[in-house]
Amino acid sequence: MSSAHRIELGALDGGEQELLQRARAAMARAYNPYSGFYVGAAVRTASGGTFAGAAVENASFGLTICAEPSAILRAYAEGDVEIRAIAVVGGASPESAGEIVTPCGRCRQLIYEAGQVSGTDIAVLCANADLSKVMKIRISDLLPFAFGPADLNVREKIDAFVGRAKGGR
Ligand code: THU
Repeated sequence: MSSAHRIELGALDGGEQELLQRARAAMARAYNPYSGFYVGAAVRTASGGTFAGAAVENASFGLTICAEPSAILRAYAEGDVEIRAIAVVGGASPESAGEIVTPCGRCRQLIYEAGQVSGTDIAVLCANADLSKVMKIRISDLLPFAFGPADLNVREKIDAFVGRAKGGR
């Protein structure tokens, strides 16, 4: 990860700072008895909605749900599907500083798809647990040459999905 993407918390706009704070609050609610590692996430949508999520682990380790889908799914469940930004905050303890946490590979793919739905190169704000280290990067930089809906020719169906979601809100 290039240090070129590092940014001071105070240099972000108010909405971005708030999104990181939402992710930080969610981080403390991670269900993490196996790893003991805390991750929270929060998404902001075109309508200004924010939805937070936390990691949910499972005794069958591979079933663990990361914080990012936890947040994305909450937005979709509310029909607020045009995600513009996501914040990811994590660390070995909610109190300690630690290092910046970036989305795992699976989460990058999920964020990429959310960006295809919203027509946005989603801004990904990544931070350590106390927000003393922050990085801002676009999903296209985290997941270049992504496989996605364009490969499967489903643009019209995605647009119809967004239309339905907007109509139902
Ligand atoms: N985790 C996330 O929530 N998101 C990521 O992108 C990386 C990993 C969580 C899952 C698990 O609860 C813990 O971090 C350790 O892998």
